[in-house]
Amino acid sequence: MENETITQMPRIGDMAPDFTVTTTTGPLTLSEYNKGNWIIMFSHPADFTPVCTTEMSGFAKEKEFFAKNNTKLLGLSIDSIHSHIAWVNAVHEKTGVLFEFPIIADIDMKISKLYGMLQPGESETAAVRAVFFIDPAGKIRTIMYYPLNVGRNMEEIKRVLLALQTSSEHSVACPLDWQPGDKVIVPAPKTIEALAERKKSNLEMVDWYLAKKSL
Ligand code: BEZ
Repeated sequence: MENETITQMPRIGDMAPDFTVTTTTGPLTLSEYNKGNWIIMFSHPADFTPVCTTEMSGFAKEKEFFAKNNTKLLGLSIDSIHSHIAWVNAVHEKTGVLFEFPIIADIDMKISKLYGMLQPGESETAAVRAVFFIDPAGKIRTIMYYPLNVGRNMEEIKRVLLALQTSSEHSVACPLDWQPGDKVIVPAPKTIEALAERKKSNLEMVDWYLAKKSL
């Protein structure tokens, strides 16, 4: 451990570290790509592997959902640009699914290390299955990590995106198992006066600190 530099992994609430990289759609700078949009950046362990193929196809098939919800996708793995292009082409030819979103060729592992996607206890050469949700201001709002042998859940990724957008837009919180259209939690009163107001309100109240409303 003596000579090893330990870098701090980005955490929820941090600004997403900026970078410029080579991708399947050309050079990309994160801060430019981010302008005015949410970004979901996700790593996969390796091209031409089965679970990764199902996951990337899952993201590609949700193209319209992400566009409708102002969100751009950004893939990454520790593979060369030639490998990425060959894989994208192979999946397209075999299944008709085209990965149109950019995929970073992180062959020098710079971005994987910067974002804590390389977790040596799991693999020293392949990124784990990470998902970073970045808001339009460039702030990291959620991080998910999955191991090499368990694929992610697209419904949960979509649910978290909509929950983040809803909580940001309305200054509310989303309870257990929240789904779009469900009631949301309003912030608890912070003064005695606000508590008195809360007691008189029409909110659905379990207790003064746990109150819900429809949007
Ligand atoms: C897969 O995507 O199938 C996979 C990739 C790396 C290790 C294990 C499985």
